[in-house]
Amino acid sequence: MSGDKITSEQRERLIEAARAAAKNAYAPYSQFHVGAAILTSGGEVFSGCNVENASYGMTNCAERTAIFSAIAKSGPTLEIRAVAVLNTQDLPCAPCGACRQVIYEFGPDAKIFFPSARGWQEAHITQLLPEGFRLK
Ligand code: THU
Repeated sequence: MSGDKITSEQRERLIEAARAAAKNAYAPYSQFHVGAAILTSGGEVFSGCNVENASYGMTNCAERTAIFSAIAKSGPTLEIRAVAVLNTQDLPCAPCGACRQVIYEFGPDAKIFFPSARGWQEAHITQLLPEGFRLK
């Protein structure tokens, strides 16, 4: 898994899946509609959107929705190769700290694509989350 380059086709596929998922966001409190998609080591793509709640802390981010959907569909051996995240306003949107830790659990070598103030950025998960926590 280590070092495998994500092709531009795979990157575009992830971005398009994230864009489609963002349309399903439930975000009546923030109005910030987020979509995310993950590429697995098996070549599958899973997507998710943010799902907010009147009890704000119960909100689930798009990235975690995508990851939990993948596990619900294909089981716990998930290996994440890449993640794309975006929002419908094209605002800068790097994964939040909680999502970085969840990505790291299943993708310690994952590449992350996200919009920044300087356009699309690509970062390794360990650049976004140095010293991520592991029990194994
Ligand atoms: N959000 C995500 O879905 N992913 C992130 O990485 C950052 C924040 C959502 C959570 C909430 O519904 C809205 O964006 C505003 O914080």
